[in-house]
This record gives sequence, structure tokens and C-alpha cells, in this order.
Amino acid sequence: MRNKIVFYLNGNRQELGAEFAGMMLADFLRYEKNLTGTKIVCAEGDCGACSILRYSPFTKTQDGDHYLPINSCITLVANLDGSSLVTVDALKNKDEFHPAQKAMIQCHGSQCGFCTPGFVMAIAGMVEKKVAAQDTILSEQEAKNCMTGNLCRCTGYQPIIDAALRIDLTEAQSIKERFFSTHQAADLQDLYKTPVLIESEEFTYFAPKTLSAAVEYLELNPDARIAGATTDLGVIHNKRKITLSKILSLHLIEELYTLEEKLNEVTLGARVTFSEFRHFMKDKCPELSQYLDVFASPQIKNSATVIGNIANASPIGDTPPALLALRARVIINGNKEIPLSDFFLAYRKTALGPGEIITGLKFPLPRPSSDIRFFKNANRKDLDISAVNFAIHLNWQDDAKTKIQDITIAAGGVAATPLRLKKTEDFLKNQFDIDGAVKVLHSEFTPLSDVRASAAFRHVIVENFFRRFFADCGGAV
Ligand SMILES: Cc1cc2nc3c(=O)[nH]c(=O)nc-3n(C[C@H](O)[C@H](O)[C@H](O)COP(=O)(O)OP(=O)(O)OC[C@H]3O[C@@H](n4cnc5c(N)ncnc54)[C@H](O)[C@@H]3O)c2cc1C
Ligand code: FES
Ligand code: FES
Repeated sequence: MRNKIVFYLNGNRQELGAEFAGMMLADFLRYEKNLTGTKIVCAEGDCGACSILRYSPFTKTQDGDHYLPINSCITLVANLDGSSLVTVDALKNKDEFHPAQKAMIQCHGSQCGFCTPGFVMAIAGMVEKKVAAQDTILSEQEAKNCMTGNLCRCTGYQPIIDAALRIDLTEAQSIKERFFSTHQAADLQDLYKTPVLIESEEFTYFAPKTLSAAVEYLELNPDARIAGATTDLGVIHNKRKITLSKILSLHLIEELYTLEEKLNEVTLGARVTFSEFRHFMKDKCPELSQYLDVFASPQIKNSATVIGNIANASPIGDTPPALLALRARVIINGNKEIPLSDFFLAYRKTALGPGEIITGLKFPLPRPSSDIRFFKNANRKDLDISAVNFAIHLNWQDDAKTKIQDITIAAGGVAATPLRLKKTEDFLKNQFDIDGAVKVLHSEFTPLSDVRASAAFRHVIVENFFRRFFADCGGAV
């Protein structure tokens, strides 16, 4: 058993116990390591000022085998076990600025400068991805996409976009080559073989190697919180609504990194991140992959787990409606499966019992002939929580699309839980009457009015999504 977590920071080995393992990384960098280049502004993942680069060599990163930007303000230090990190303080190579830094200077991409380290790291992450893929062309859209997790209140975005576009990718040096050595790889691989238990009066952290040990720990410690990437938990902790004092981490359990398709069925383990899932689904269900483009930001997607989004059971979470429409099943403790539609019981209450962990999800791939659409309505396009999200998955009986064989409809932001709209589904199975179905649809939910949207607006949006789906899919109505 290890009683320390280990990671590399700008090439230097860090071995940390209870004193630091329960801190948020941004605080640790600034207040313990004096690495003050990394800024803290919002402390809730929304502005990107705290962006750093992380490489997790022993987890599957199917979105590329390289360093990725993440938000350090909501990342628990303990969760970095086994990683290699690079902060903005180390980006300059001797006297030579990183191309992202140079370009920001040349394009006047900074005024007060508070957001600048975060933008530099977001751009450096994009450069690293391009270098790893030996891709020397960057489109304007890619430049914009890489910085959707960063906010600037004074420069304006055009000079920053210009800076990203100005970088000569043929001359960029790999950060991985600079900061990740075979020595580090061997060291971290060795550490990954041993479970971690850190205990003090204020902080307990257990990371077992097996699922059975995790289940046993949770049974004995019902007050322990399972930590995914802490993109939800870290925000609540920073707002001082909870204290992350007893943590169960699943990061050393290899089988939870599963992401595979067998016999047209996708299985996704509890440790799979949004970036990995999005990349994996690109060819298998492009609609889902595109929907995830507007899920949070690159920094969040690079660390947040899909299962965290399900376990969180937020009524406005973006994946539940999509996965309900895909008829997903939740896998519990590796040996029990329940339909996702039976998982959400009440506001933030799930079917998980004591000692139960979500170990994964399974769902059948939609048929090539299926019509499937996922919609998100939020107050801004990028990096915003939904006011309403909506999903429909339909199989037709005939090529002329006159009769529905089966249909699944789900919505978020319209009730206390993500909702399957079963009455509307049943209505449409018997009669293809869209106006009639719209009446049933409205009768199935009673949304709240809140800061994101009024109840009336939510009704209108759901109806519009529903009608748009049928207008687009060309059913012979
Ligand atoms: C800036 C920002 C933007 C965001 N944007 C979006 C967005 O666009 N759409 C959206 O839906 N969400 C969004 N989120 C919310 C969040 O990123 C997601 O819910 C994410 O999937 C949570 O995953 P995580 O791994 O970080 O979970 P954590 O924060 O680690 O955990 C979340 C919850 O799940 C539980 N949990 C984790 N793993 C398991 C498991 N295996 N078994 C049982 N319980 C488990 C935890 O105990 C906790 O209660 C955003 C968050 C931030 C900070
Ligand atoms: S400080 Fe704003 S995202 Fe971390
Ligand atoms: S330069 Fe001031 S916030 Fe961006």
C-alpha cells in the first residue's frame, strides 16, 4: 500500500501525503510551489485562467497520446496520481518562448494579462495535439474551439485567435518530448501497481487496484465520496458547500477504462472521459459526437468522466437525455445492469444503493437507418449548462418512413430528473399525428421557471425541437 500520491510537475517528481493531497491543484501550485503563473479567477472551471497541461500515460487517451489542457482550480491534487503536469511557468524553454507565447506577444493578445497564461496553455495544448498528430494545418474553427474554455474581459478575442493562427506548426517542439522521459514512464508504471491509502484526521483517500476492494471500502465507509475528475465535486467544494474529506478514487482499476464496441454494443467504463468518448463515437454515431462538441470546454472534457455526469443526476445534465434515447443500461458493481430510464428516481436521487458504484454503461449503436437527434438549448453556445436538452431516436418500419417501429424520446431541464417521454412515444407508435403528439408531449412535463429559462420558454423549446426533428427527418407525415 502506498501512503503517498506521486506525479511529475514540470519534470520534477512530487510525492505527497495528506497535507497536500486534499488541496485543489491551483492552490497547491500557487501557495505551496510558488508557481504563480497559473491564475485563479472563477475557481469553478468557467474561465480557463488556471489551465495547465496534463498527461496520463497509463489511462486510455484515445483522443491522442499527449498532454491535454485541464482546469487546475477544480482538480484535486490526489487525483493527479500517476500524471505528468506542465504549468505555464515552465513553458519557456531556456531563453526561447513557446510558440503560443511568442504569437500572443506578436498579435497583442494580452492587455491586463490575467487571462493570458490560461489562453497560452489552451493554445499550447492545441499545438501539442497537432504536433502529436503531425498535422501542420490549423483552421480558424479549430483555433476558436481550443479556447472555448477561456474568458478574456479586456483584450477581445480576435487578437488571441490571430495569435493561435499565426503559429508555425512545422516549427513547434513537442512538450511531451521535453517533459516526459522513459524514466518517468517506468516510475509511474511501477507506482500504478500499488493501491493508495492516505489517512489523516482531515483527509482520507483510498485508491484500490480492484473493484471488489472499492465496493468493500464503500460498504464500510458509506460517507466516502467517489471521485471522478471532480469537475462537479470540485466546484461544490470551492463554494464551501461540501468538504472533500473522504475520497474513494477508482483511477487504479484498469477495467474501468474500457471503451469498446462489440457486436454493435458500446461499453464504456467509469473512468472514460468526455474527450475519449467523443472521439470514439465520431464514426459510430456522429450525431452524439457533435452534440458533445458543445458539452463544457476542452479543459472539462479532457478530465470529466461520462459516468460522473450520470451519477450526478442533474436534471439539466447533457448526457442523460442522449443516453436515454440510446436505450443505455447502467452497470453497477460490474455485475448488475439496470435501464438508465429506471436509474433517476427523484431530484438528484438515483437507484444506487449503499456500497454501489457505477462501473460503466452499455448501449446498442443506432442502426444506420435510424433517425437520431440530440438538441441543446443554453444561454450561450459554448461552455454553458443547458436550459433544455432533448433527444429523439426513431426506427421506421418502412423505407418510405410512413410507420414508426419504435421511438425513444427524452428531455432534460423540464422536470426534477432527466425524463423519458413515454406517453408521447406510445401515442406515436399508434398514430403518426404530430399535432396530436405535441399535445401529449406538453402534458408530460411541468418545468420550473428559474434563472436559465421560464417554464413557458421550456415548453416552447421542447415543442420546437420535437417539430424540427420530424421536419428534418422527412417522415411522410
Ligand atoms: C465549467 C463547467 C462546465 C460544465 N459543463 C457541462 C455541460 O455542458 N453539460 C453537463 O451536463 N455538465 C457540465 N458540467 C458538469 C460536469 O463537468 C459533469 O457532470 C461531469 O461529467 C462530471 O464528471 P466528473 O468525473 O468530474 O465527476 P465528479 O465531480 O468527480 O463526480 C460527480 C458525482 O458523481 C459521483 N460519481 C463519480 N463517479 C462515480 C461512479 N463511478 N459511481 C457512482 N458515483 C460516481 C460523485 O461521487 C459525484 O457525486 C460542467 C462543469 C463545469 C465545472
Ligand atoms: S479559475 Fe476559472 S477555470 Fe479555474
Ligand atoms: S487580457 Fe485582461 S482578461 Fe484578458
